[in-house]
Amino acid sequence: MEKFIITGGTPLRGELTLTGAKNVALKVLSAALLTNEELILHNVPILTDVFAMLELLQTLGVHSRWDGHTVIIKNSGVKNTRVPLDIGARLRTSSMVVGPLLARYGEAIIPNPGGCRLGARPIDRHMDALTSMGAHILYHSDDGYFYLTAKKLTGATIQFVKNTHTGTETIILAAVLAKGTTILKNAAEEVEIDGLIELLTAMGARIFRSAPREITIEGVSSLHGAEYTVMPDRNEEVTFAIAAAMTGGEIVIRQSQRTELHAFLEKLSEAGATYEEIDETTTRYRCSVRPRATDVTTSIHPGFMTDWQAPWAVFMTQSKGISTIHETVFESRFSYVAELKKMGAAISFFGPNVSNPETFYNFNWKDHVNGYHQAIKITGPTTLHNAILEMTDLRAGATLVLAALVADGESYIHGIEQVDRGYENIDKRLKDLGAKIKRTKEDA
Ligand code: EPU
Repeated sequence: MEKFIITGGTPLRGELTLTGAKNVALKVLSAALLTNEELILHNVPILTDVFAMLELLQTLGVHSRWDGHTVIIKNSGVKNTRVPLDIGARLRTSSMVVGPLLARYGEAIIPNPGGCRLGARPIDRHMDALTSMGAHILYHSDDGYFYLTAKKLTGATIQFVKNTHTGTETIILAAVLAKGTTILKNAAEEVEIDGLIELLTAMGARIFRSAPREITIEGVSSLHGAEYTVMPDRNEEVTFAIAAAMTGGEIVIRQSQRTELHAFLEKLSEAGATYEEIDETTTRYRCSVRPRATDVTTSIHPGFMTDWQAPWAVFMTQSKGISTIHETVFESRFSYVAELKKMGAAISFFGPNVSNPETFYNFNWKDHVNGYHQAIKITGPTTLHNAILEMTDLRAGATLVLAALVADGESYIHGIEQVDRGYENIDKRLKDLGAKIKRTKEDA
């Protein structure tokens, strides 16, 4: 167990290259189950979540080795179709092996997946879609496992009731080897999904975005090995862009994904920060004025992503006026608020006026915890002060690091394994930009 000790107040300056996108890497690893040939995956971020996914695949019979940021991975013959509970509970993407296992081996046994605890986070949309493709599914509430079998998955027309990012990917992974054509309607459009589609296409799959929010997958009889490079992580870009703006510094980002960040860049400009397009894949971020308050409502692609709202909240503590954030994708993604309040942030919850919450929110309204508000109001500017903080999930973790970087004094952040799940060497990379950050062992 380790902690960060961060002394705030230094403007961050310098250059940084984005690492590969966690939310692509984790999914493309599952594709190794779809063939017995080798996949060579470049630009894989070195993250504890990626190690966990590789460990999970290893228990199923898929072996891998690292060469720098390249993973060479090969299915050596699946001997087991059961995802171990301890890995499943750690990892959201543990359930994504379900499609390949069903399609090639006729059965999959998966626990209710874990990962960041952002409310109930069920997988009912994934399960309904697999049922439409002919899977037989039993959920055992005594052990928390789904038991799935399918003689042969068959293509189907599937209408997702609401957006689901990993649900869309799970069904793509199931449909590539299914008999016949699958049409996914109301399919998610997050760019990370196109990363998975690109790899599967290189493996011989036939997948098309056939209309807005529609994906057509023509099942094929087999897939082959491929070489593929994971796209850079746009969520990482947002985190570092905010770090530059918030500390009054200037960061140049290489491998920039700004073409996939419209909604973020729009808000950034509205707040008074600037981004300069140096070339196609290089962007400079800075903010030389007192930022202005903004109102943000998170939404599915192409809106302001839910993953960006927590770091944005820290930025807004430094802005003048009252800002609001309305979270519409997950039903409980404000765990960082209590920690920011320990640092002196003026944040309060409120219940926005929503006439039909069942259709308005992306989560299942029935999962909503009575009394939990979906929006916060931030009054700024506030000089944050140091505190002893605890990370509760990945993006909330990055948020506390940002808060400590702008706070007066020395903060201690515990639970940093959360941020190590999704940001490669965050402390080293921040240090290279001038941050005063130390990683030390927790006292025994
Ligand atoms: N939902 C259901 N039932 C389902 C599926 C989703 O109720 O069957 C609800 C979820 O609980 C949530 C909402 O619908 O409230 C949206 O869920 P979605 O399935 O779209 O999200 P996800 O696939 O669980 C992925 C990313 C998240 C990212 C969201 C939104 C991965 C591994 N996770 O989650 O990333 O925030 O999509 O784009 O790709 C992160 O990286 O920190 C992270 C949480």
